[in-house]
Amino acid sequence: MRKISLIIAMLLMSLTFGTVLCQANIPAPPADQDLGLWDRTINNMSEADCRGCHGNVVNELHHKLITTKKLSCFTCHKLDYISGSWQFEPFRDCLHCHSQIAGQASVHHIGQTAQEGNCAACHGSLVQNRDDGHYIPTYGESMVTPRPSEGTGTNGKGACDYCHSWGNDLGTSELVYANKETHHGTGLGYDTNKCTWCHDSQAGAGLKIRSCEQCHAPQSLHNIQLDTNSDGNIIPGAELPYKGHIGNNEDCLGCHGGSASQVSIGGGSGGWSLFNPTRHHLLVQKKGKKCLDCHTLYRNVQGIFVFKDFRTCSACHRNGGRRP
Ligand code: HEC
Ligand code: HEC
Ligand code: HEC
Ligand code: HEC
Ligand code: HEC
Ligand code: HEC
Ligand code: HEC
Ligand code: HEC
Ligand code: HEC
Ligand code: HEC
Repeated sequence: MRKISLIIAMLLMSLTFGTVLCQANIPAPPADQDLGLWDRTINNMSEADCRGCHGNVVNELHHKLITTKKLSCFTCHKLDYISGSWQFEPFRDCLHCHSQIAGQASVHHIGQTAQEGNCAACHGSLVQNRDDGHYIPTYGESMVTPRPSEGTGTNGKGACDYCHSWGNDLGTSELVYANKETHHGTGLGYDTNKCTWCHDSQAGAGLKIRSCEQCHAPQSLHNIQLDTNSDGNIIPGAELPYKGHIGNNEDCLGCHGGSASQVSIGGGSGGWSLFNPTRHHLLVQKKGKKCLDCHTLYRNVQGIFVFKDFRTCSACHRNGGRRP
C-alpha cells in the first residue's frame, strides 16, 4: 500500500514539476504555505480536530479563566437533574459550548473578536484591521493597479489569484483553497451586513482592490515575505521569486503587472503630456526597468518596510535633468 501511494505521489510530483518546467515563468497557483495559516476552510470540525490545534488537554486553558475572567465552576460545569439525580452536562466536547455552523461558519469567526472586525488579534501583522485608520490610496487607477482576480497581464498577472488560488500544494500535495472559499468560509461571507467589509459593488473593475485594502493595505502587503536564503535578512528584489510579495521583481509584477492597454495613458500624445506615473511606468516595457529601480523599500524605525518618497522629482532627478 505504502509503496503504491509513494509511486503515485512521485508520479504526481513529476507531473507538477513537469508543468512548472514547461511554463517556467508561470507560477502555478497555489502559493506556498509557509507563512500564515493554511489557506482552507475550517468550519466543519469535530472535537478531535479542535484538539489537534489546541492540544489534547484543555483543562488548564479553561481553568485559568476562573481567575482571569472570574468565571465560576458552574459557568462551564452545568448540572442537570435527570431522573432523580444531578448529572454534569458534557464538558469535553468543545462543540457543546463553542458553536460552529457546519459548512458555513467557523467557531473562530462567530466569536466576538472577529465579529467586531479585529482580525489582527489572531492573524497578526499579516493583515490590518478595517477601522484602524491605516493608509489606503485614493489616487485613480493606473496601469499598475492590482486587481482581486482576472488580472489583465500575461496569464492573469496583475491580480491576487495569479498566485493564490485552488490547487495542490507542491510540497505536501494537500489541497489549497481559492480566496473566495477561504474568506466566505469563515462565515463572514454569509452575513449580508458584512459584504462591504470586503466588497464595494459600486467600484469599477480597476478599483475593486481598494475594498480588499481595508485589511490588505500597502503596508501589510509589502511586508509579507519569506527569507528565502535564511540569512536572517530580507532583501527586497534579491530573494527567490514566488516566496512572498517583495522578494523579487517577479513578485511585484504578480500583483502590479496588469496590461498597459487597459488604462488610458494620459492626455494627448508625446512624452511631456503623459500622466507622470504612466510616463515612468512605460519605461518598464520600453527599457526593461524594474519596479525596485525607482521604488526603494527600506525598513523604518519600527522595522516595517516602507517606500522612499517617489513623488518629488528631485528625489530622483538630482540635477533637474531627465536622467536621475
Ligand atoms: C488550525 C488550528 C486550529 C483549529 C483546528 C482550531 N483552532 Fe481554535 N484557535 C486557533 C488559533 C490560532 C486561535 C487564536 C489564538 C489563541 O487564542 O490561541 C484560536 C482561538 C480559539 C478560541 C478563542 C476565540 C476568541 O474569540 O478569542 C476558541 C474558543 C477556539 N479557538 C476554539 C476552537 C474550537 C472549539 C475548535 C474546533 C471546532 C478549534 N478552536 C479549532 C487555532 C485552531
Ligand atoms: C471556562 C470553562 C470552565 C470552567 C470555568 C471550569 N472548568 Fe473544569 N473543565 C472545563 C473543560 C472544557 C474541561 C475538559 C477538559 C478536557 O477534556 O481536556 C474541564 C475539566 C474539568 C475536570 C476534569 C479533569 C480531567 O480532565 O479529568 C474537573 C475535575 C473540573 N473541570 C473541575 C472544575 C472546577 C472544580 C471548576 C471551578 C473551580 C471548573 N472546573 C471550572 C471547563 C471549565
Ligand atoms: C463546558 C463548556 C466548554 C467546553 C466543553 C469547552 N469550552 Fe472552551 N471555553 C468555554 C468558555 C465558557 C470559555 C470562555 C469564553 C469567554 O471568554 O467568555 C472558553 C474559552 C476557550 C478558549 C479561549 C481561552 C482564552 O484564553 O480566552 C479556547 C481556545 C477554548 N475555549 C477552546 C476549547 C476547546 C479546543 C475545547 C474542546 C477540546 C473546548 N474549548 C471545550 C467553555 C467550554
Ligand atoms: C479568535 C481568533 C480569530 C479572529 C479574531 C479572526 N480569525 Fe480568521 N482564522 C482564525 C483561525 C484559528 C483560522 C484557521 C481555522 C479556521 O478557519 O477557523 C482562521 C482562518 C481564517 C481565514 C482562512 C485561512 C487562510 O489562510 O485563508 C480567513 C480568510 C480569515 N480567517 C479571515 C478573518 C477575518 C476577515 C477576520 C476579521 C474579521 C478574522 N479572520 C478574525 C482565527 C481568527
Ligand atoms: C507573485 C505571487 C503572489 C501574488 C500575485 C499575491 N501573493 Fe500573497 N503571497 C504570495 C506568497 C508566495 C505568500 C507566502 C505564502 C506562504 O509561504 O505561506 C503570500 C502570502 C500572503 C498572505 C499571508 C497569509 C497567507 O495565507 O499566506 C496574504 C494575506 C496575502 N498573500 C495576500 C495577498 C493579496 C491580498 C494579494 C493580491 C492583492 C496577493 N496576496 C497576491 C504570493 C503572491
Ligand atoms: C472577509 C471578506 C469577505 C466577505 C465578508 C465577503 N466576501 Fe465575497 N469574496 C471575498 C473574496 C476574497 C473573494 C474572491 C475575490 C476574487 O477573486 O475576485 C470574494 C468573491 C465574491 C464573489 C465572486 C467574485 C466577484 O467579486 O464577483 C461574490 C459574488 C461575492 N464574493 C459576494 C459576497 C457577498 C454577497 C457577501 C456578503 C453576504 C460577501 N461576498 C462577503 C471576500 C469576502
Ligand atoms: C476584513 C478583513 C479582510 C478583507 C477586507 C479581505 N481579507 Fe483577505 N485575508 C484576511 C485574513 C484575516 C486572511 C488570512 C491571513 C492568514 O493566513 O493568517 C486573508 C488572506 C488573504 C489571502 C491569502 C490567501 C488566503 O486565502 O489566506 C488573499 C490572497 C486574500 N486574503 C485576498 C483578499 C481579496 C482579494 C480581498 C478583497 C476581495 C480580501 N482578501 C479582503 C482578511 C481580509
Ligand atoms: C500582494 C500584491 C502586491 C505585491 C506583490 C506588490 N504590491 Fe505594491 N501595492 C499593492 C497594492 C494593493 C497597492 C495599492 C494600489 C492602489 O490601491 O492603487 C500597492 C501600492 C504600491 C505602491 C504605491 C504605494 C503608495 O504609497 O501609494 C508602490 C510604489 C508599490 N506598490 C510598489 C511595489 C513594488 C516595488 C513591489 C515589489 C517589490 C510591489 N509593490 C509588490 C499590492 C502589491
Ligand atoms: C522609472 C521609474 C519608475 C519605475 C521603473 C516604476 N515606477 Fe512607479 N512611480 C514612479 C514615479 C516617479 C511615480 C510617481 C509619479 C508622480 O506622482 O508624479 C510612481 C508612482 C507609482 C504608483 C502610484 C500610482 C499613481 O497613480 O500615483 C504605484 C502604485 C507605482 N508607482 C508602482 C510601481 C510598480 C509596481 C512598478 C513596477 C511595475 C513601478 N512603479 C515602476 C517611478 C517608477
Ligand atoms: C522615484 C524616482 C523618480 C521620481 C520621483 C521621478 N522620476 Fe522621472 N525618472 C526616473 C527614472 C529612473 C527615469 C529613467 C531614466 C532612464 O531612462 O534611465 C526617469 C525618467 C523621466 C523622464 C524621461 C521619460 C522617458 O520616457 O524617457 C522624464 C520626462 C521624467 N522622468 C520626469 C519626471 C518628473 C517631471 C518628475 C516629478 C514630477 C519625476 N520624473 C519624478 C525616476 C524618477
